[in-house]
Amino acid sequence: TQAPVNVTVTGAAGQIGYALLFRIASGQLLGQDKPVRLRLLEIPQAVKAAEGTALELEDCAFPLLNGIDIFDDPKQAFEGVNIALLVGARPRTKGMERGDLLEANGGIFKPQGEAINAGAADDVKVLVVGNPANTNALIAQSHAPDVPAERFTAMTRLDHNRAIAQLAKKLGVAVSDVTKLTIWGNHSATQYPDIFHAEVKGENAAAAVNDQNWLENEFIPRVAKRGAEIIEARGASSAASAANAAIDHVFDWVNGTPDGDWVSMGIPSDGSYGVPEGLISSFPVTTKGGTYEIVQGLEIDEFSRTRIDASVKELSEERDAVTKLGLV
Ligand code: NAI
Repeated sequence: TQAPVNVTVTGAAGQIGYALLFRIASGQLLGQDKPVRLRLLEIPQAVKAAEGTALELEDCAFPLLNGIDIFDDPKQAFEGVNIALLVGARPRTKGMERGDLLEANGGIFKPQGEAINAGAADDVKVLVVGNPANTNALIAQSHAPDVPAERFTAMTRLDHNRAIAQLAKKLGVAVSDVTKLTIWGNHSATQYPDIFHAEVKGENAAAAVNDQNWLENEFIPRVAKRGAEIIEARGASSAASAANAAIDHVFDWVNGTPDGDWVSMGIPSDGSYGVPEGLISSFPVTTKGGTYEIVQGLEIDEFSRTRIDASVKELSEERDAVTKLGLV
């Protein structure tokens, strides 16, 4: 039998955690042949709730679940970790300035980066879900100098999946008919969902839509503000769809993207497409053998350029702010 893969999930007692853990334990994160061992990290006040979830996980009798450990100390939680899902974060509360938010999250992602640096397995892969995801990933990465920088990624897969669903709906096709969709930039309202390189049944998606008004005034804002739409309707933020996107992100990173398609991941820029090196920004990527590559050579027209630049500018500002705070 195979050695289990150590999967650490932070914020395990939160709402995304609850939607995520059962899918990991059932084998959907890595594939049906890979046993997993869960290592849950919570703040002390939420450890009891995480223990409750662990009881339910036990009650599922998942054949691939090798064990569950619960911690309130990042050093222990990341010991031997192969896949780290950083979900727990400090939400923005009323009256909180952006600087306060970044500082509060620095207090979470700095020690977690240090713990990953100290204890993670050589092949560790990190996905940051907790917002502001791109900049939290940057903070964690900067405190893990011994881990290759490209192992730190931020989640824009929910945005990617949302965009595919909206595009498929508009064209009356199946979601599986849509390929090569790209989210560029930050996981925030400035993100740019790009259909100019997307394809629908192999045809160019923008040409198939042929509706600039829909693109500018419905599609882009709807995808970018979908999180707010969900909160408005559900009275709580996206949880199951976010968990699903985290599963997709890691599954594809580990198992590879299909030929002729790509996915969106927030990854450290190598300078491609004019995105300053080191910023953790969303790009179109293909994956193979546990590594990813940015899709090169896409032609970026004026319309797309303006939108990518605006989102990247926001990322640069976030990086400047956390640099000033001494968090990176
Ligand atoms: P939640 O508030 O239900 O759960 C967060 C959990 O994190 C809580 O149980 C809390 O105790 C825990 N936590 C806080 N600090 C911690 C620390 N230092 N170590 C370990 N655990 C800690 O929030 P929810 O709905 O599960 O969302 C989690 C995060 O994911 C939020 O930041 C949210 O904004 C973000 N998110 C990101 C998305 C994306 O597309 N990138 C989509 C949806 C949510």
